[in-house]
Amino acid sequence: MAYVCPPGEDKRKPPPSIPPLNAAVDVRRDIVHAQMKPFTNEPILELRRGPIRAQLAGALAEHDKRPALHVPVWIGDDQREGADIVSTDPGRPERVVAEAAAAAKDEVDAALRAARPWTAPAEERAQVLVRAAQWLRERRLEVAALEVRECAKPWPEADADVCEAIDFLEYYARGAVDLAQGAPLLQVPGERNEMTYAPRGVVAVISPWNFPVAIALGMTAAALATGNAAILKPAEQSPGCAFVLTRALREAGVPPSALALLPGEGEVGAALVRDPRVHTIAFTGSNKVGLDIVRAAAEVPPGQKHLKRVIAEMGGKNCVIVDSDADLDEVVPALVKSAFLYAGQKCSAAARVLCHEAIHDALVERLAGAIEVLEVGQADDLEIDVPPVIEEDAQQRVARYAAEAQSGGRIAARARSVPDGSGWFAAPTLAADLPTDSPVLSDEIFGPLLAVERVRDVDDACDRVDASPFALTGGLFARNPDTVDRVIERSPVGNLYVNRAITGAMVARQPFGGNRLSGTGTKAGGPGYLLQFVEPHVVTENTMRHGLVV
Ligand SMILES: NC(=O)c1ccc[n+]([C@@H]2O[C@H](COP(=O)([O-])OP(=O)(O)OC[C@H]3O[C@@H](n4cnc5c(N)ncnc54)[C@H](O)[C@@H]3O)[C@@H](O)[C@H]2O)c1
Repeated sequence: MAYVCPPGEDKRKPPPSIPPLNAAVDVRRDIVHAQMKPFTNEPILELRRGPIRAQLAGALAEHDKRPALHVPVWIGDDQREGADIVSTDPGRPERVVAEAAAAAKDEVDAALRAARPWTAPAEERAQVLVRAAQWLRERRLEVAALEVRECAKPWPEADADVCEAIDFLEYYARGAVDLAQGAPLLQVPGERNEMTYAPRGVVAVISPWNFPVAIALGMTAAALATGNAAILKPAEQSPGCAFVLTRALREAGVPPSALALLPGEGEVGAALVRDPRVHTIAFTGSNKVGLDIVRAAAEVPPGQKHLKRVIAEMGGKNCVIVDSDADLDEVVPALVKSAFLYAGQKCSAAARVLCHEAIHDALVERLAGAIEVLEVGQADDLEIDVPPVIEEDAQQRVARYAAEAQSGGRIAARARSVPDGSGWFAAPTLAADLPTDSPVLSDEIFGPLLAVERVRDVDDACDRVDASPFALTGGLFARNPDTVDRVIERSPVGNLYVNRAITGAMVARQPFGGNRLSGTGTKAGGPGYLLQFVEPHVVTENTMRHGLVV
């Protein structure tokens, strides 16, 4: 189509060609992308192979020879060690894994004063994150061994956690390069529109212990990939893992002013959340703490010129619906895996089974048989099914809810083989016939306790799911495609799994995060996640000529 010169525009000039947005950077992005292979998930180890098992044993023996890790408060180039927090092996609490300094008030202040957004171009930041992924790859067994000891992660879970951390680094590195291109906008003659994204500033990252490397690193990597400064406040149960991931980032080239490590208890996180110098809070943890953070972040103290953004991934009460036509041979192992891997201490773990009344009794009987023979034991033992829970409080909490289930309903099964040593072991338990108002059916227990409920049909099950304030993960076992479609339509959860286990989300394949009171709806490991860490800027330029300046 011929170019029609708008009135007032100089006819002798060639028509304004709208340059591709950020053309120069585009070329650089292509170069970077060519160097970076398309994203793929880091392959997990084949733990059934003898030589791999021997390597794990070797890595653990090496780990055990070394003294406990000393985890510093790490601000800029300064490290201050201390032993305010002692992290121990949940399976043998007398074994000290790490000793950490707890950040004092003035250190929170110092970290905020030192924090500077990472101004390097996105391509350079991406290269550093990819180098951090390589750092972890090269130390993969060493890091997994630390997780086995510090958080009682069984080997397959520890290995998967390190792989997920590598995935986050690789995925967000690529995402940051794409984001730096801005977003395409409609262009019309006489006008140039451009949308770009700038870092928000300082991100307080507050992480839980149950994915001690992957979640802490994922949130931190997202903050850094987008050019922010990150201050990491890890869970008090896993400072050793947090130190290792901070080393990975620093040694890969993240500038000291862009990343600080502040180990400590909850009050360190609370101080960060309330400080006007923090722009974004990336939190993963319990509902109670998450709601407190959302409330505190809404305050705008005098002098604060921005609204804080909260990214909160919180707890759930995850339900699996089992229809009457479900194949129990498939359902039982998937439920056992979903509820008891890592002792039920995954935010995605199955907690309630809503089973059609036609097969309820058969399912309870089959599940009971499977749960009674689960082996509970030390996380480093490849033969066990269920490791100890993280700490004594967790052990007591599970026992309290099991007692509640016994008094309100019945215990349909309990694992027989549970060590009676000093570790924080909790018996995998199946509860049934509970009253609908039982707290066992509504509270997040975060341990190896699964409850089965009898429902009239799938719609009854959907009504019960819908009545819950949580909406993190969910599952469905059904063969009728219409039923599958109906449940998908009615499901409020962030991640629904059909005819499979409900844990084990993979970066880029199952972007992860909850709705309702389970989270702010952001999806870690998904295409929109990095947008939470930036602010958009739109520039519109009038490209019509206004005469020459002489
Ligand atoms: N949705 C998800 O993606 C996801 C993933 C993992 C874990 N979780 C949830 O995390 C919980 C288990 O982890 P946890 O026990 O470490 O959770 P938690 O809420 O006790 O602690 C999480 C972090 O918050 C800090 N903290 C505690 N009080 C604080 C306060 N007042 N202000 C600021 N920070 C504070 C803790 O020190 C820790 O670093 C479960 O509820 C689980 O469902 C959710």
